[in-house]
Amino acid sequence: MTDQSVCTEAGELISTAVSKLTAVGIELPQLEARILLGSVMQIPPSQFIVSPEIKCSDEEKLKYIALVERRKQYEPVSHLTGFREFWSLNYQITSSVLDPRPDSETLVFEALKSFPERKLPLRVLDIGVGSGCLLLSFLSERPNAVGIGVDISLSALKIAYQNAVSFELSNRAVFQQSNWLDGVAGEYDVIFCNPPYVSSEEFKLLHDDVRKFEPREALLAGVDGLEAYKNILPHISKFLSKDGEAFFEVGINQAQRVSEISEANGLIVRGQFADISGIPRCLAIKKH
Ligand SMILES: C[S@@+](CC[C@H](N)C(=O)[O-])C[C@H]1O[C@@H](n2cnc3c(N)ncnc32)[C@H](O)[C@@H]1O
Repeated sequence: MTDQSVCTEAGELISTAVSKLTAVGIELPQLEARILLGSVMQIPPSQFIVSPEIKCSDEEKLKYIALVERRKQYEPVSHLTGFREFWSLNYQITSSVLDPRPDSETLVFEALKSFPERKLPLRVLDIGVGSGCLLLSFLSERPNAVGIGVDISLSALKIAYQNAVSFELSNRAVFQQSNWLDGVAGEYDVIFCNPPYVSSEEFKLLHDDVRKFEPREALLAGVDGLEAYKNILPHISKFLSKDGEAFFEVGINQAQRVSEISEANGLIVRGQFADISGIPRCLAIKKH
């Protein structure tokens, strides 16, 4: 008997999926099984907890089983559903952009703390904008701020623009193709940068979810993982306004080294801030 004919209620479908996902070592099988079925049925995943008896059509069952099979091959959930929540906004995601990580919310949080006045007309730059998650989340909280997001990847810029449109922020955000800061002009009060920071050795050890499915240019940064910082930090002071601040994401164990690169380039590291797991994740950088 096939899976399709066994399961008729959401709860049954989900428990079959949970067993399959558990068998291949997926960390949060219950949650992911609900998210995937929610995306097929266009129902909030939490609904399946209170009403596991919800019925699925044959078409929904088939779609769901296909998604679970893809997840078993470690394709990220965001690629299967097309979306990922970040800063309570539902970002459209494809294989062209890095899946926004909760750790990166630390940068948005610290930038908002540094510029607490909601109505300030801030100028924001996001270097390596990807899905737009840093720039657009910040703009969503500061209604008079405007921003530019640059990326080398044209397909990433298209996704960032679509996200700006869907959050009704496209009148305050522009996107431009640029090799880091090459095509950028002007001064900015807030600069975000979450560059690639994985070394070539670390890349080999990444889980399949990331290594096989996420864009390499969003991850890899030379032999030591510091290449992008070495390219970008020497130019940052030129783009910072007098009281401006840059918020750089760093990988595990990189905070010290990236602080040293910043200071060697005449910048002040105002602080290092930890993510929700207590790992130093964000450097706030100013110019003299
Ligand atoms: C780690 S991802 C960050 C994406 C997004 N800002 C986030 O926080 O999820 C790094 C981004 O830098 C972009 N990138 C890589 N090399 C670049 C370069 N030379 N110039 C501009 N952007 C680059 C990648 O395409 C990718 O979107």
